[in-house]
Amino acid sequence: MTDVTINTGGSVICLVSGAGAPMRFHAVWLRDNAWDGETRSPGNGQRLITINSLPADVRIASASISGGKLSVTFAPENKTADYDLGWLARHAYDRPARSVRGWTPDSIETWDKGLTPKLPRAAFNEVKTRPGALRDWLAGVARYGVGVLTGGPVKPEALLEVAALFGYVRETNYGRYFEVRTEVNPTNLAYTGLGLQAHTDNPYRDPVPTLQILYCLENSAEGGENMVVDGFAAALRLKAENPAWFDVLTKYCANFEYAGEKGVRLTSRRPMIELAPDGELIAVRFNNRSTAAITDVPFEDMATYYAAYRRLAQIIDDETMEVTFKLSPGECFIVDNTRVMHARKGYSGAGSRWLQGCYADKDGLLSKLASLEAETLEAAQ
Ligand code: FE2
Repeated sequence: MTDVTINTGGSVICLVSGAGAPMRFHAVWLRDNAWDGETRSPGNGQRLITINSLPADVRIASASISGGKLSVTFAPENKTADYDLGWLARHAYDRPARSVRGWTPDSIETWDKGLTPKLPRAAFNEVKTRPGALRDWLAGVARYGVGVLTGGPVKPEALLEVAALFGYVRETNYGRYFEVRTEVNPTNLAYTGLGLQAHTDNPYRDPVPTLQILYCLENSAEGGENMVVDGFAAALRLKAENPAWFDVLTKYCANFEYAGEKGVRLTSRRPMIELAPDGELIAVRFNNRSTAAITDVPFEDMATYYAAYRRLAQIIDDETMEVTFKLSPGECFIVDNTRVMHARKGYSGAGSRWLQGCYADKDGLLSKLASLEAETLEAAQ
């Protein structure tokens, strides 16, 4: 049984249920979130009013509960709106403000080498033909920021079919996709494939591409494994070791740039560890090749900044943080480029390595996942 009380003046309503904690809601919040046909489009759910359409002195004249619904009459409009109690419980905001810097939502899980046996993997044909398989694989990618697909076609541009599973390719100055191809010549050390430090791609873009797909077409050289590192886990380990070092990398912007081809001068100014205003860890940017002269750290903090940057790099290079796998032709992996760093181990010996890469965006992936999950829920009802 849920009871409702209204404070003096009618600016706040309080719902008290037998089991749960009290939930307070402001009159203006409730009015703004009414779902009647004049407030929201019955067709697409979009709001039809602006904040300026609401009286500044909106207040609750009366309220009652029956049949799982809260019914509120607002003054001075004399308008009545109904709210589903379940919806109110899911959207309640009456809780203490977050005080932790670097918190992450329950929907994601940070990881280290221990993820190896649980790395989200699926067969290309399965996710292409079975929505439930696609849903489960995308859920893994959303949770861990990385996933592998196996058994795909061994043909150029197959990676575009992977992007089309959930969204759209993000075209850049490198084209719709780009080639990552090296011939290994064992008689000349200069042509030995060098390893690359784990990095996020294109930190010099604003916004950065939020997903990257790397698709293997040939991989007969010795070595050349791919490895991935959870940038959120690395950032949180830095915070546990030295909170001041974590803070300095969140507090100041780094500078990134790429001007490696004619007509292109990409620059960005963003922190290596980015927090939302409420402290949520939302992005990591880390790329030794694209970091420009850092000029936005005050003189007094530059030495600390570099100590923090060095330690973050050591953590990223720590083998206990990395998950390693070798792709066979027709296999690919996807990373959340705002979070998970990728790298290539060095390779040698006769053979060739040919990957194609492209960018896409996470909003499309999360949208596809949410719609597949909603279909699953509807089917279960
Ligand atoms: Fe890369």
